[in-house]
Amino acid sequence: MSSETAKATLIAAARDARERAHAPFSHFKVGAAVESVDGDVTTGCNIENASYGLTLCAERVAIFKAVSEGIRKFRSLTIVVDTDELTPPCGACRQIIWEFCGDIPVTMANLAGRTETMQMSDLLPKAFDARFLVD
Ligand code: THU
Repeated sequence: MSSETAKATLIAAARDARERAHAPFSHFKVGAAVESVDGDVTTGCNIENASYGLTLCAERVAIFKAVSEGIRKFRSLTIVVDTDELTPPCGACRQIIWEFCGDIPVTMANLAGRTETMQMSDLLPKAFDARFLVD
């Protein structure tokens, strides 16, 4: 698969997942697709709760779904929204993406076909991670 085809496939998967967003409070629907090094694609959507702080972002749903299926090595993450300005992952998600996926490329896309790709090390410079945990 060419990288452009892979990119289009991942955007389509995240776009489908976005349709399943449960966002009755913000009405802001987000879809995500995380790609493993073996080419598995796992999707997620944001899932809100009346107790707002319990809301899960699409990126974390996708990553946690994949991890729960035994997938541990990731190649890329794609996020789809319906805003003119492309939406980057929130701070909490950046920490989770870094922890599970490391310095992967993150593609942000919208329904109009605009895309931008950034490396995680640019989205989360000087990240805290398990390397700092000493016994
Ligand atoms: N949201 C995501 O799903 N991903 C992000 O990176 C940013 C925010 C969701 C959470 C909430 O359901 C809605 O967007 C508004 O914050």
